[in-house]
Amino acid sequence: RGSEHGPKNIDVSALVDAEGGLIDRSIYTDPGIYDQEMRRIFARSWLFLAHASQFKKPGDFFTTFMGQDPVIVTMDKTKTIRAYLNSCRHRGMRLCRADAGATKMFTCTYHGWSFDLAGALQTVPNEKAYPEDFDKKQWGLIEVPRVAEYKGLLFGNWDKDAEDLEETLGDMRYYLDAMLDRDPEGTEVIGGVMKWELEGNWKLAAEQFATDWYHVNMSHASALMVMSPTGKGPKAEIVATPGRQFLSPNGHGAGFPTHPKSRFDAQAVHEHYDYDALRERLGDAAVEGPMTTGHATVFPSFSYLPVNGSIRIWHPKGPNKIEVWAWILVDKSMPEDVKDAQRLYNLRTFGPSGIFEADDGENWSEIQAVSGGFVTNSVPLNFQMGIGSEREDGVYPGQTSELYSDAAGRSFYRHWAELMNTPAWHERPAPAPAGESA
Ligand code: FES
Ligand code: FE
Repeated sequence: RGSEHGPKNIDVSALVDAEGGLIDRSIYTDPGIYDQEMRRIFARSWLFLAHASQFKKPGDFFTTFMGQDPVIVTMDKTKTIRAYLNSCRHRGMRLCRADAGATKMFTCTYHGWSFDLAGALQTVPNEKAYPEDFDKKQWGLIEVPRVAEYKGLLFGNWDKDAEDLEETLGDMRYYLDAMLDRDPEGTEVIGGVMKWELEGNWKLAAEQFATDWYHVNMSHASALMVMSPTGKGPKAEIVATPGRQFLSPNGHGAGFPTHPKSRFDAQAVHEHYDYDALRERLGDAAVEGPMTTGHATVFPSFSYLPVNGSIRIWHPKGPNKIEVWAWILVDKSMPEDVKDAQRLYNLRTFGPSGIFEADDGENWSEIQAVSGGFVTNSVPLNFQMGIGSEREDGVYPGQTSELYSDAAGRSFYRHWAELMNTPAWHERPAPAPAGESA
């Protein structure tokens, strides 16, 4: 891999002008760019795998994807979470074909090779037919070298030398804590995983959750109206309410109004919280900011909505398609009826048929649908809102901008372009054998 025979890389410098706020649309449509993203973004970034509450006992497993690579996430006998490429070492069959479950062994349905929870090849039918030097130890599952947890969120990384998850998150941890740390017992996911497909490039969704509050009043106008018993909706309040947007050098982003009245959640959930205790626990700024109605993205493809209790991953399925996988997140110590209120609120707003979710998906699909045209695709996109507004405000950690700004979008694409133009771990030359270095 990575030799002169490897795939040709595209220099994306001319396609992303992060300072000037101009983006070339080919980054959403070009199959060559997409393939390079698999190599240089998804093969080296921390990618969300699952929530820790999905694994209660050894053998519990969940199958998902890292980029387009299928992986099995499971709890081994020592209760360690491990992840493996979901492809049999024999002839490459998808090893585990269930979405989730519990097992002692993963047995391939093609010829019957069986692997244990530590990924070791245990049984080979008719093993005596193999040569004498056939060594089962050489044929264990390919393991994801790094798996790490941040407050219940499990991430994996194919780069064994990647910077630690917590460092990569950096100041983003503060904005995640507004969702993950409301309850001393932490969070859990309830129900299953909701999965649906959208026509559109994965970045359209990831970037929107990182940076785009601008669309809320226009795209969601009718949804905001029906959310309000008076028919007027909370629209006026949102427009009038100031807010902040966090941008990270590692491409993460979060946007939120900065007033506790901007919290639009299920009544039972609202009444459940002891806001004084939350102020004590997380600070006034968190309660008045990221704990209100906001949205965020952990680069590259994990997004969340704290008030709606929605965590989701935008699985790339080719340049033109996203598979959304969404979980309902609740605080562990919530009484059952409050969890249920959170569940229903989640479904009503950001479930697959949620009144907000449908609006967003339609935007991305329509952008993608028209971007196939040759002339259309040569016209740059504008990300200039709030240029120069980025600063440290002394209230919110890291660099922030105004709520209505493209600042986190520009930093998302700046980081994207950096990674796209930098060789990844699998492209680095193998270290010279000892004694041969210059
Ligand atoms: Fe899995 Fe043959 S492909 S046992
Ligand atoms: Fe939206």
